Amino acid sequence: MILEPLKELRITVVIDNVADLIAQGNEVTIRRPIFSGDQVAPPLIAEHGLSLFISATDFKGNTKHILLDAGLTEEGLPYNLKRLDLPVEETDLVVLSHGHFDHFGALKWLYQEGVVPKDAPLLLHPKAFSLRGIRDPQGGLHPFPQLNREELEGMGVKIVETKDPMLQLGGMVLVTGEIPRYTPFEIGFPMGYRMENGEAVQDNIPDDQALAFLIEGKGVVAVLGCGHSGVINTLDYIESLTKEKRIHAVIGGFHLSGAVFEETVSPTIDRLKEKGVRWVAPTHCSGFKAQCRFAKEMSEEFIYCCVGTTFVFSA
Ligand SMILES: [Fe+2]
Ligand SMILES: [Fe+2]
Repeated sequence: MILEPLKELRITVVIDNVADLIAQGNEVTIRRPIFSGDQVAPPLIAEHGLSLFISATDFKGNTKHILLDAGLTEEGLPYNLKRLDLPVEETDLVVLSHGHFDHFGALKWLYQEGVVPKDAPLLLHPKAFSLRGIRDPQGGLHPFPQLNREELEGMGVKIVETKDPMLQLGGMVLVTGEIPRYTPFEIGFPMGYRMENGEAVQDNIPDDQALAFLIEGKGVVAVLGCGHSGVINTLDYIESLTKEKRIHAVIGGFHLSGAVFEETVSPTIDRLKEKGVRWVAPTHCSGFKAQCRFAKEMSEEFIYCCVGTTFVFSA
């Protein structure tokens, strides 16, 4: 699969777990200014969720807009979108990284209110509609809110369901579809269950998928939702699909929060270093302790992420 090389890629963090008015930028990171004129700019809010607005520009001058995920609530995303100057009404494609409720929270609102065009397709894996949740140590099931297919279809949303990798927008983006799991240290989602034919089965979130872009002369920018497939499995799959070995940046949820994922952090960092990843921005569900490890052990590559951050990668 041949990705169209990009001249510029801008990724704005609309929803994330952290808000920070005084975070510092760097050569690929613009922070939202504190002031607008001589007034403090209306601040953004944080919530446990993720939503990224992505603009990709090719060498022919075409710019395409993608929304990856829709945060946790119907309060957070509308609030922040109103305060960020983003051309959301020109969204060409909406992608759901997986069917967890902290990623589809305001999805219905986006289409219902016409914030994104009705004809902007919604790409997801069929299992994103699963009834699922977490199992406690005693075996008790605690269901999560479920994505409602009928509701979306009833609004005329063009849903594209596939497990397969797809190039979209004239090859400007690769949507991975289902990601093969093979590394021994990436363990999926051990506490998860999903209902299949009336039975609760182990749920490693097979619907988890990522986006990949190619910056001319630099390499791949990989964008993850929750990273339930594992960051390394995801990067290896992108490499096998695109035959591009250079990884310029990895941004998104790495899902390394909590004791059960602690053993995954070291081999993940080792493999990212081996791959020569230039920038790494573990956010959302990556976990504070894991983020501290990245900040310490990949100090030149690490970027701290918060709402209102815009990453700009240029050829
Ligand atoms: Fe998440
Ligand atoms: Fe998730």
